[in-house]
Amino acid sequence: MFPSITNPILPEEDSPTELRCQRGMFLLFVVLLFITRAAALDFRYHDNTAMKEYLLHINTTSPEIAHLHSIGRSVRGQELWVMIVGLNPRQHTLGIPEFNYVANMHGNEVVGRELLLQLIDFLVEGYHSNSSSVKRLLSSTRIHLLPSMNPDGFDDADTQCLHNQGRYNHNGVDLNRNFPDVFSDHSRQPKQQREPEVEAVMSWLRSETFVLSANLHGGALVASYPYDSNQGRVLVGGASVTPDNDVFVHLAKVYASSHTSMHHGNSCVHSNKFADGITNGYEWYPLSGGLQDYSYLHAQCLDITLEVSCCKFPAEDQLQDFWTANRPPLIAFIQQIHLGVKGRVLGSSGPLQGALVVVSDRLDRCPFTTDHNGEYYRLLLPGNYTFMVSFPGYQVAQEMLSIPSNQNGFSALNHDFLMKPSSTAPAMIFPLCDHAHQQGGGATTSPTLFCILLLTLLLLDL
Ligand SMILES: *[C@@H]1O[C@H](CO)[C@@H](O)[C@H](O)[C@H]1NC(C)=O
Ligand SMILES: *[C@@H]1O[C@H](CO)[C@@H](O)[C@H](O)[C@H]1NC(C)=O
Ligand SMILES: *[C@@H]1O[C@H](CO)[C@@H](O)[C@H](O)[C@H]1NC(C)=O
Ligand SMILES: [Zn+2]
Repeated sequence: MFPSITNPILPEEDSPTELRCQRGMFLLFVVLLFITRAAALDFRYHDNTAMKEYLLHINTTSPEIAHLHSIGRSVRGQELWVMIVGLNPRQHTLGIPEFNYVANMHGNEVVGRELLLQLIDFLVEGYHSNSSSVKRLLSSTRIHLLPSMNPDGFDDADTQCLHNQGRYNHNGVDLNRNFPDVFSDHSRQPKQQREPEVEAVMSWLRSETFVLSANLHGGALVASYPYDSNQGRVLVGGASVTPDNDVFVHLAKVYASSHTSMHHGNSCVHSNKFADGITNGYEWYPLSGGLQDYSYLHAQCLDITLEVSCCKFPAEDQLQDFWTANRPPLIAFIQQIHLGVKGRVLGSSGPLQGALVVVSDRLDRCPFTTDHNGEYYRLLLPGNYTFMVSFPGYQVAQEMLSIPSNQNGFSALNHDFLMKPSSTAPAMIFPLCDHAHQQGGGATTSPTLFCILLLTLLLLDL
């Protein structure tokens, strides 16, 4: 069925040869237009073969804005396709943040998979039809879309609304429990077997500095934010909260409130009631080894979990309504990547990789660090924040930044930190989490230890 080619049928009537010729040319033009570009993607379930054909078709016909690659293979050897959409799809551009959506990690939760295919179609068609909002989004953001993280599970799924057939990968493992648990003491636990789909996503998260992301599920209608796990942490009113809780609540609310019904918070018969259609993951139900905690702590990428359908595998004729309900929030959520502040940390001879960028009132368990371009991105709500930026051999830079509100903006505040060399500053190796983009990684350090080290550093330097 794909690509579907529309044949415009012109009325059969007697007409002069010249007119026929013009019509012939017009017909040829229309047919060519539809061959070279995807016609609107139809609302049906695309099996793994149809999905691959569609993605390859987009890759071939829109190379200027779309780039398809595989990040690995499933247990049965099926490719895990990622489509990148943006004005420079093949590589990172300085100042352009990287975004990702992951869907169908549970093979029988299939709405998100079709939503991401529709999203690709929407962005590519929007670009070709010169939609100014799509063009602004694509020129300011590089968007990575993994429509199916579990193609094997999809093949096994039954079409029941609440069953678990097809949820797991081909080894029978729940992929959203198979990421390294960020809170457990790895030295005291046997090494968990990592599934190939999870390995692939982990190395993908290491390959780019992702800033914001979400993973799409089904079986409820709610936007859930980290943490899912807690392991010995203090709970805040039953929730296991991150230092960036204000930002996470905002992100979840943007999705729920832009959705036709999610914000009502009580849409599914078998589900909890969620105020405003959002919940802290742990408060809903605790789990460890999930993607959102891993992504936040190990890839310094703010990730939330979107449950987009009460029924995990709804009838095909509902897909169009799902797209109508989720298109505005999918777009609005991507745009949140432009909250806060971004820039580079620059030393005497250029950008510094691995500089700590700490916002004073939010001491993250894994402090945010700059990537190999010296870049940092910090999603923050409007307000005044004190930043402390440090790197061995340099004075700690302490600056107050005023983050303006960025309604409808397509860029965060731009701010570079210029570091001053200091012979007295301690050449300290910072305690780093195994941040995705850092070579080799390091041991996970407790917040207290990190706090002590940071204070030591400040006392020595100031
Ligand atoms: C996508 O297209 C590019 C050329 O534009 C090609 O190099 C690449 O191999 C294609 N990707 C796949 C998965 O075929
Ligand atoms: C696309 O839109 C821009 C501005 O909105 C306009 O200048 C340009 O001519 C348009 N291009 C096409 C092919 O329609
Ligand atoms: C931020 O600081 C500026 C002065 O530096 C002040 O005028 C402004 O009111 C502050 N904003 C907030 C939200 O505190
Ligand atoms: Zn799920």
